Amino acid sequence: MSRILTGIQSSGRPHLGNVLGAIKPAIELSQQPENESFLFIADQHSLTTIKDGALRREYIRAVASAWLAFGLDTTKNVFWRQSHVPEHTELAWYLNCYTPFPMLANAHSFKDKSERLSDVNAGLFTYPCLMAADILLYDANIIPVGKDQKQHIEMTRDMASAVNNQVGEEVFVLPEAQIDERIMTIPGIDGQKMSKSYNNYIDIFLPANELYKVIKKIVSDSTPLEEPKNPDTDITFKLYALLATDEKVDTMRQNYLNGGYGYGHAKKELYELIIHQFAEPRERFTYYMENNDALERELRLGEEKARAVASKTIQRVREKFGFN
Ligand code: ADP
Ligand code: TRP
Repeated sequence: MSRILTGIQSSGRPHLGNVLGAIKPAIELSQQPENESFLFIADQHSLTTIKDGALRREYIRAVASAWLAFGLDTTKNVFWRQSHVPEHTELAWYLNCYTPFPMLANAHSFKDKSERLSDVNAGLFTYPCLMAADILLYDANIIPVGKDQKQHIEMTRDMASAVNNQVGEEVFVLPEAQIDERIMTIPGIDGQKMSKSYNNYIDIFLPANELYKVIKKIVSDSTPLEEPKNPDTDITFKLYALLATDEKVDTMRQNYLNGGYGYGHAKKELYELIIHQFAEPRERFTYYMENNDALERELRLGEEKARAVASKTIQRVREKFGFN
C-alpha cells in the first residue's frame, strides 16, 4: 500500500492546464486500489503571495469544487484544507529549526523571486519547511508533483534525515517525488505554458458565452480562410488534439491541410468539445460553488480524517523533542 500525498495551492481558479496536468492524473492515481491518497488544499502557502481574504476564500472554494467536480471520492481518500489542521504549522516550526539557512536560500522558488529582498516575506523564504511539514505529518511515501517541485521534495528528505539522525531513530518516513514525464505542458491561448501568472489560461468552468470569448482569443496566424494551414504549429489545433478522439483529430488535421477551413471554425469545434466533454464536471463545479454547505461537508469529513493521522505524528514528534 502506497500513501500518496499532494498539495494544491489555492492561488487562483483552476484552469485547463491544472485539470489535465494535475487534477485528473491525481484522481486516476487515487482510484488505484493499492493507493491511499491524501490530497489537500495548500491554502496557507497562498498567504505568501495573496493577502486578500475574500479572494482567498473564493479560490479555496474554486479549487475544492474542481477536485470534487472531477470525481474525487472523499469517502475513500482524504481531502482537506491545510489551514484547518493546525498540526501543519506546528511541525513547520520544528522543521524550521532543523533547516540550515543556505538550504532555504538555494531554493529555486525563493531565488526566482528574490531579486528585491525587501519584497520577499519570511513566509516565502521558509515555504519549503511548511511544505515538508505537509508531507512528513502524514508519513507519505509518494509525492506526485510537477518538475518545479522536485527540489522541495529533496529538501523535505534532508529535513527528515536531519531529525532522524539527531533523534537516532526513524521519526519521519523519507518521501519520494513522482514526476510523470508523460504529462505534457498544456499551452495557453498565447502559446506559452498555460499559467495563472501569464493570464493566458482557459478556465473551463466559465459560463458558456465567456468561455467562447476566451477561446476566440487563442492566437493564430493570418493565413486566409481558403488556404491550407499547418496544424502542427497552431495553438487551437494543439489544444483540440489534447482532448479529442484520434478520429476527430485526424478530421481536423485534414481540414487544416485541405484549406477552406478557418481558425474560427477550429475554435468553434474546440469550444463545443470542451462544453461537451466537461459537461458533467462543469455542472458539479457550479453545484459546489453555489452550495457551500455541501462543499463544507466534504472538507470537514476530510479534516477529521487528516487530523486523526496528523495528531498522532505530532504526539510522536513532541515526545522525541521533549515537549511532553
Ligand atoms: P499556475 O502556473 O497556473 O500557477 P500551478 O503552478 O499552481 O499553476 O500548478 C498547479 C498544478 O497544475 C501543478 O501540478 C502543475 O504541474 C500543473 N500545471 C500548471 N500549469 C500546467 C500546464 N500548463 N500544463 C500542465 N500542467 C500544469
Ligand atoms: N508547493 C506546491 C506547489 O506550488 C504545493 C504544495 C504545498 C505541495 N505543499 C505540498 C505539493 C506538499 C506536494 C506536497 O505546487
